[in-house]
Amino acid sequence: MTKLQAPMGMKDFYGKDLASLKELERLWLLELENNNFSEIRTPVLEEKELFIRSVGEFSDIVSKEMFSCDDLVLRPEGTAPVMRCVLENSLPLPQYLSYFSSFFRKERPQKGRFRQFYQYGCEVLGESEPQAEIKVLSLIKRFYDKLNIKYRFELNYLPSEDALRTYEEALTSFYQANLNLLSETSKTRLNNQTVLRILDSKEDRKLNETAPKVTDFLSEEDSKKWNKILSLLEKLKIPYTLNPALVRGLDYYEGLVFEVVDESNTLGAQNALGGGGRYNKLSTQLGSKEKISAFGFGGGAERLLYQLSLEEKASKTKVGLISSEDIIVELEVLRGKLESQNLMVDLNYDYTLGFKKMFKRLDKLKVNYVVVVGSTELSGNFCKVKNLTTGEEKTIPKPFSELESTDFTF
Ligand code: HAM
Repeated sequence: MTKLQAPMGMKDFYGKDLASLKELERLWLLELENNNFSEIRTPVLEEKELFIRSVGEFSDIVSKEMFSCDDLVLRPEGTAPVMRCVLENSLPLPQYLSYFSSFFRKERPQKGRFRQFYQYGCEVLGESEPQAEIKVLSLIKRFYDKLNIKYRFELNYLPSEDALRTYEEALTSFYQANLNLLSETSKTRLNNQTVLRILDSKEDRKLNETAPKVTDFLSEEDSKKWNKILSLLEKLKIPYTLNPALVRGLDYYEGLVFEVVDESNTLGAQNALGGGGRYNKLSTQLGSKEKISAFGFGGGAERLLYQLSLEEKASKTKVGLISSEDIIVELEVLRGKLESQNLMVDLNYDYTLGFKKMFKRLDKLKVNYVVVVGSTELSGNFCKVKNLTTGEEKTIPKPFSELESTDFTF
């Protein structure tokens, strides 16, 4: 029989990895909640049409990376589902929404790139620029700073409708004039209406240096908005670099687009911690008559976890309770009390096991402190607590039933 295993590019989470993932989820949702965002959860499956209309038929995601079943697909990203939900349920605007969810893309798996991955994200709907931009970028900055992450923001500004078309035409003429220098992948992009994506092709980097620059195609109004955002970021001391080749691979963007790039050099080729931008045209792409101002961000959880050891912060102090006497009821009461004080408690129910085996078991469970209740402790007004990491033992001058979390801090 062949060996059964998890699908390619998909990973089981348990033990330390799961503890880190859950801690990241807790920290993200808490940070967002403190900034007046509410969590949203949408279905894992959506109609394929949702992503054709939003991310775009010719994007890499829609053209080759979706897992599909009939007309349904496993969601490859979260922005389109959030907008669909807001429109479908006529949610009042503005909406400040946060999520920590798994997404699915049939990409070639490698370090930092999976076929099922988690994103921590947020979407602001019904708030125009520059308010939403500043709100979201400063929130991301605060979040990463608290986690001690080394990163930089890369920014670009995509012109709106007509100006974007003029820019795409200028790029098309430029690449057609240089067809002999263009890579094969980019030639396909030129033919299937994704000319913008040629700008982030690594193979064509040299040629791209001389390609028309997006900022030369901004309308006066767009330039004003772009400069306003940049000057606010400077005032707020949010550092950034400009990247005129940053186009993002999803069709719904216009206005500010950005990526958070890892600067710790631990991620190799997949060094985008996250990305986002303004997507004012998404609501009408999905069929709404109303154009909804919107801006958001999504970050890859696995990529962030490479640099963090959150499970240590997440893990609670573990206390083991052992006795050679039949005092299960008393120990059970103590267990409940310590647990309510945020300790993790292991109670050994088999009092006939013998202390040697009990300690061996606690070692395996990586317990931090142990309370041994023998016959003397049972009758006296003191008890003993041992720190299993340092070997230090303390006599606490109170009956074991009165122990509390502060007794486990030496
Ligand atoms: P995205 O750039 O496609 O944008 O993905 C955001 C982040 O998700 C990436 O920067 C990366 O960290 C992570 N990511 C993407 N694909 C994978 C993968 N296969 N494996 C591991 N991590 C991955 C979006 O998805 C937009 N919805 C972001 C957004 C929100 N824009 C506006 N609001």
